[in-house]
Amino acid sequence: MSMKNVDLYYFSGTGNTRLVVERMVEIFGKNGVDAALKKIEDSRPEDVDLDHTLGIGFPVAILSTYSFVWDFINALPESPGTEVFMLDTLGGYSGGIVGPLRNILEKKGYKPIGACEIVMPLNIFYIQDRAVCDEKVKKGLQRAEKYAYALIEGKSQWGRVPILSDAMKTVSMGGLKLAAWGPHQRYLKFRVNQSLCNGCGTCADLCPVGNIKMDEHPVTGDNCQYCMRCASFCPRGAIPCFINYRGKTYAAMKPGEMLK
Ligand SMILES: Cc1cc2nc3c(=O)[nH]c(=O)nc-3n(C[C@H](O)[C@H](O)[C@H](O)COP(=O)(O)O)c2cc1C
Repeated sequence: MSMKNVDLYYFSGTGNTRLVVERMVEIFGKNGVDAALKKIEDSRPEDVDLDHTLGIGFPVAILSTYSFVWDFINALPESPGTEVFMLDTLGGYSGGIVGPLRNILEKKGYKPIGACEIVMPLNIFYIQDRAVCDEKVKKGLQRAEKYAYALIEGKSQWGRVPILSDAMKTVSMGGLKLAAWGPHQRYLKFRVNQSLCNGCGTCADLCPVGNIKMDEHPVTGDNCQYCMRCASFCPRGAIPCFINYRGKTYAAMKPGEMLK
């Protein structure tokens, strides 16, 4: 067993990644590895403890991951040999993350010990029925358990890097830039249905980049990352998810649990 202390930094939009990292930390704990979960949106890269094994977990978005997760990764300090592992959750295909992330971390001096991509329910465009999603979550968590054991036993690897992953990262960066572009932000804005909204502020509390400010009702700015949190966890369903088929949303847990 090589790992003793793990700090697992993660972001989760709609709860899939959160379920995965919680299960992994549970397995670590039961097997004598002291592991802490840390939210990327509340953390500063310069505070990462380089004497602990570093874990990074996030959802795949536009073939890699969200811009603010990239910002966290890119700003990690250089390290002489800190062990690092990654995991992502995805609907089906990434491409632009596993290889490029390893390159970035190796250049900074980290020692990559494991990478795992875990299929979970898709939370955008086409939301499947609850029973199908539940089955995917079950399988995803089984995979997370296996991965946690592999890390503990020193048998994990920084898996297979998809062919053309650097090219896919370039495509992904283009997609992320387009998503951040002013006209895109204004045209594809999540607008609150004021007749349904009760002003509870859950959306503003959950937005990872502070893009939602509370007035009488929430007001969204032009820095949406499209992580789906606000639309998925609004207790009144007051943020219509116009980009999803039939407006259906997905959430892996209840708003109160996500806020913890
Ligand atoms: C904006 C956005 C982009 C996504 N892009 C991809 C993608 O490129 N490939 C993929 O397999 N899944 C993609 N997904 C699906 C998520 O990666 C998947 O549902 C993930 O498990 C969500 O994790 P979370 O609940 O922790 O946010 C995307 C989801 C969103 C909201």
